[in-house]
Amino acid sequence: MSKENDLNNKILVCGGGGFIGGHLVKRLKSEGYWVRVCDLKEHEFSKSPADEFIVGDLTDRLICNRVVDGIDQIYQLAADMGGAGYIFTGDHDAVVMHNSVTINLNILEASRLANVKKIFYSSSACIYPEYNQMDPNNPKCSEESAYPAAPDSEYGWEKLFSERLYLAYHRNYGLDVKIARFHNIFGEEGTWIGGREKAPAAICRKVAELKYGEKIDIWGDGKQTRSFLYVDDCVDCVRILMDSDFSGPVNIGSEEMISINNLALMIMNIAEKDLEINNIPGPIGVRGRNSDNTLVNAALHWKPKYSLMEGLEKTYFWILDQVISYTDQYRDKSVLPN
Ligand code: NAD
Ligand code: GDD
Repeated sequence: MSKENDLNNKILVCGGGGFIGGHLVKRLKSEGYWVRVCDLKEHEFSKSPADEFIVGDLTDRLICNRVVDGIDQIYQLAADMGGAGYIFTGDHDAVVMHNSVTINLNILEASRLANVKKIFYSSSACIYPEYNQMDPNNPKCSEESAYPAAPDSEYGWEKLFSERLYLAYHRNYGLDVKIARFHNIFGEEGTWIGGREKAPAAICRKVAELKYGEKIDIWGDGKQTRSFLYVDDCVDCVRILMDSDFSGPVNIGSEEMISINNLALMIMNIAEKDLEINNIPGPIGVRGRNSDNTLVNAALHWKPKYSLMEGLEKTYFWILDQVISYTDQYRDKSVLPN
């Protein structure tokens, strides 16, 4: 398909009021697409450049039927989502599974009825089995290692079920599906406070809030490992996948694995602030996780452009600005948030 024809495609971004969806909408608009967003809420940090922004609940089948009308391609990023403090406590399991699976059931059925051509689904590294992620220095997250399935969270089980749902719609109804497994994406305009923030944003916030020499609380022994991908790289790869003949599931992540204590040290270095690391009990998740990019390199010729340090520099200074304006907002009322 020529680029000219392709630009005639009307795009729906489900969850375009969120972090990755918000960045994706900006990218699609800069490429010249007509874009509709559906989200429970407006974008928190900037005005969306979408042509249409529908505030609506995608667990409602009628809303799904309405938002897919006239649409050629969908990016489905809407989910009940959060970092370790949200998905590993167990307190939100039912609501996470119910909301996210209902969105996926509704949007797929609406897509089938409306003859949507192509749909992207954002799955997660959380689908990988816990038994392959016990050694922090040697986790296994290649795509084929997903089975026998044993995710360590209900969030991961829902993502794995929904991957299968998308693949079933592909097999039985010919819907062109693209599935990516995101590995901890971070960057500006991501959630940084409130309980759903992931480690990079949470630690940037803590470093920004603390004074030199104070203690910084880090959950667990800090030896658990992860890799983190800067959001611009994520959006690049999503766009390449969507325009390719490849369906996935495929990892979209970084292979730059780091321990969480070293992540904290890297952020302190960026902030030029010495703090004492205080490892405390908290929700931990798997001991080690790292993206395996063998398949994404081979199938899409993609690799990240940003190092972890480069992405964190951008993110830290954005969060520092948020912390300063948030503090200013509360200063007048003499009620500073914890
Ligand atoms: P996010 O929470 O910022 O964005 C998700 C958006 O979905 C939010 O704006 C939310 O309001 C919206 N939403 C939730 N329920 C909805 C509903 N019923 N109807 C309409 N909108 C609804 O999260 P994100 O980090 O941008 O993640 C986007 C997608 O990528 C999610 O599916 C997430 O599970 C997946 N993912 C993200 C990461 C990551 O590190 N950020 C990692 C793995 C997978
Ligand atoms: N969130 C957070 N906040 N995590 C912390 C903190 C803190 O203050 N201190 C230490 N950590 C540790 C957590 O205990 C965990 O071991 C590690 O940092 C990473 O935590 P998160 O970034 O919150 O989540 P995750 O990597 O375990 O899972 C995230 O990534 C998945 C994809 O790779 C989640 O966002 C999942 O929803 C996502 O699918």
